Amino acid sequence: MTARDPSAVACGDLSRAEARWELARLAAEIRHHDILYYQQDAPEVSDADYDALRRRNAEIEARFPELILPDSPSRRVGAEPAAGFAKIRHAVAMLSLENAFTDEDVADFFDGVRRFIKELKDDPSQPLEVVAEPKIDGLSASLRYEDGLFVQGATRGDGTEGEDITANLRTLADVPKRLTGAGWPRIVEVRGEVYMGKADFAALNRRQEDRGEKIFANPRNAAAGSLRQLDPAVTARRPLSFFAYAWGEVSEPVDGSHWAVLRRFHDWGFKVNPLARLCRTVDEALALYREIGAGRAALPYDIDGVVYKVNRMDWQERLGFVSRAPRWAVAHKFPAEQAETVLDRIEIQVGRTGVLTPVAHLRPVTVGGVVVSRATLHNEDYIAEKDIRIGDTAVIQRAGDVIPQVVRIVAERRPAGAIPYVFPETCPACGSQAIREPDEAARRCTGGLICPAQAVERLKHFVGREAFDIEGLGRKHIEEFWADGLIRTPGDIFRLREKQVAIAGREGWGEQSAQKLVDAIAARRDVELPRFLGALGIRQVGASTARLLARVYGSLAHLRTAMEKAAAGEETAEYGELIAIDGIGPAVATDLIGFFAEPHNRDILDDLAANVRVAEFVAPATAGSPIAGKTVVFTGTLELMTRGEAKARAEALGAKVAGSVSAKTDFVIAGPGAGSKAKKAAELGVKTLTEAEWLDLIGQD
Ligand code: IVH
Repeated sequence: MTARDPSAVACGDLSRAEARWELARLAAEIRHHDILYYQQDAPEVSDADYDALRRRNAEIEARFPELILPDSPSRRVGAEPAAGFAKIRHAVAMLSLENAFTDEDVADFFDGVRRFIKELKDDPSQPLEVVAEPKIDGLSASLRYEDGLFVQGATRGDGTEGEDITANLRTLADVPKRLTGAGWPRIVEVRGEVYMGKADFAALNRRQEDRGEKIFANPRNAAAGSLRQLDPAVTARRPLSFFAYAWGEVSEPVDGSHWAVLRRFHDWGFKVNPLARLCRTVDEALALYREIGAGRAALPYDIDGVVYKVNRMDWQERLGFVSRAPRWAVAHKFPAEQAETVLDRIEIQVGRTGVLTPVAHLRPVTVGGVVVSRATLHNEDYIAEKDIRIGDTAVIQRAGDVIPQVVRIVAERRPAGAIPYVFPETCPACGSQAIREPDEAARRCTGGLICPAQAVERLKHFVGREAFDIEGLGRKHIEEFWADGLIRTPGDIFRLREKQVAIAGREGWGEQSAQKLVDAIAARRDVELPRFLGALGIRQVGASTARLLARVYGSLAHLRTAMEKAAAGEETAEYGELIAIDGIGPAVATDLIGFFAEPHNRDILDDLAANVRVAEFVAPATAGSPIAGKTVVFTGTLELMTRGEAKARAEALGAKVAGSVSAKTDFVIAGPGAGSKAKKAAELGVKTLTEAEWLDLIGQD
């Protein structure tokens, strides 16, 4: 065998051994550049070259998830002890704020302060000044300075105890390493909000997507995820900012006013929010609230309200706290961003498995700075409950980055003669009956293989990122190629080479792009068995089940034979073997066997067999793994790695990753926001771990 240099081989052509070698080389090389860049300020390569290394690493890892190294650059949990961050007790607690939602709530706040401070109570003509400042949607941090030097930084944590994130905070340009100006106390803790600007957030997500890494839901999550990295080199690459707005422990009492303190923060080298103003009355405060609210969409960062703080420090001191919030401040929250617009029509989209999903088409309207022209209506019950009719004026809401929702219909603005919406009982794409099973919210097209909408969706799934991952063949292309008859079945994709000239001549295409597409397709002719099975889009067979099947059956040929034999009945040995697999119940078994029995699917498989090479599944060596053979379920948000990566790691160590909790589950790894699955685990007595405990268990530190 002639050895070739793996770094010169296209990712799609790498053998497993070459991939392993190449991943090790990339890890070392990227680490080398990180040290030059972050610790020595002396990079050797351009950002673009550096990005290319990370991208190649991500591509190879996506193809060979079982080869991901514990110290892979994409993991970045290797630098610090597994226990995560050290704990820091706050000498002065980091508190939260009471919320105000209405003008009356704000007036009550002012009244409360007036009733509390005798001078104000006795003299209604005496002004009560407050500083009004935007409530930044990020996460708070406390920065400790001794003799003007930044010595320690902490998260808020539970308010009493936070985490030591000094190294991470040090990477922020907005965090002065040394205070400027003069007059700072020997010890001072400056507190404020770490956040990510909107443009920085969008750019970060684009980069993450290009590298196949985690996409963040909103700037706040991105800021939190970036700040709580165990490797400060990752934080350093994230565009985080900081506004100072409060203080904790100080060696000399702070006197004067909050306004004066903000000014001092500025002099010491901190950014303070430029929209902050002194207000002397409730009306002035409310006017500023409305002004800031009106300009909110145009601001370069997210805010979720306006905070009013009593300006006089001696009064703050006297007002003190009630439970966890100060009496001297209140957060006046903005309502969720909403807008009214006309619902022009309802489109029914047909998914890969035939589910009919109604989508509202709206007259374009700006909600929180984003133009919205479509909103999901979920299913027919949702439309009926809200009595949504075509021509109605709808209140649209957008919270964070989620898909816009129709909150309600403005009854007074309903046009005369509007009739209730009748949900179709036939598929708009193929005309087949669309039926609803008794316990399901969804109505499904029964057209199956004759339904063009399902076929197109299946093809989109086939080329998608989790499946064949064909670069440059997006959803739009699939639709266009389908419409013009260039692609009808998965096998057709691999025959596009024969139509290269025709593609080059299409609008928006050229010789180069057509060549690139053909090359990208060729690069995917070798495919791992789990990816192949997942790409088929068999109902209920997602990535996890596909992997399970690959592990049990080893090869496509073996799986096919077994499924064909199992089709003869439940008494066959093959059926018994299938149903015995942990994680496969009778419903999945029926869908699987049904898929392989269907003549059209068999044709597709035969056709594909002639065009792609499906690798046999090689079980990873898991000797000594503490989780070999265990079944685990991930739920909630993972903060240290993507779900895909967590899954890949677990499986590489011999665990089965399941989607739902049952008595057979060994571990549930629950991140923030874990809901019903964590609850079920508790009910069943299944061991639940935090992400950090999980990493500890599998020895990833
Ligand atoms: S003052 C003792 N000012 O809001 C009061 N907080 O709901 C300390 N926040 O944990 C907080 N912008 O993370 C204050 N201008 C601002 C703020 C602000 C955002 C956050 C902060 C705090 C939370 C309380």
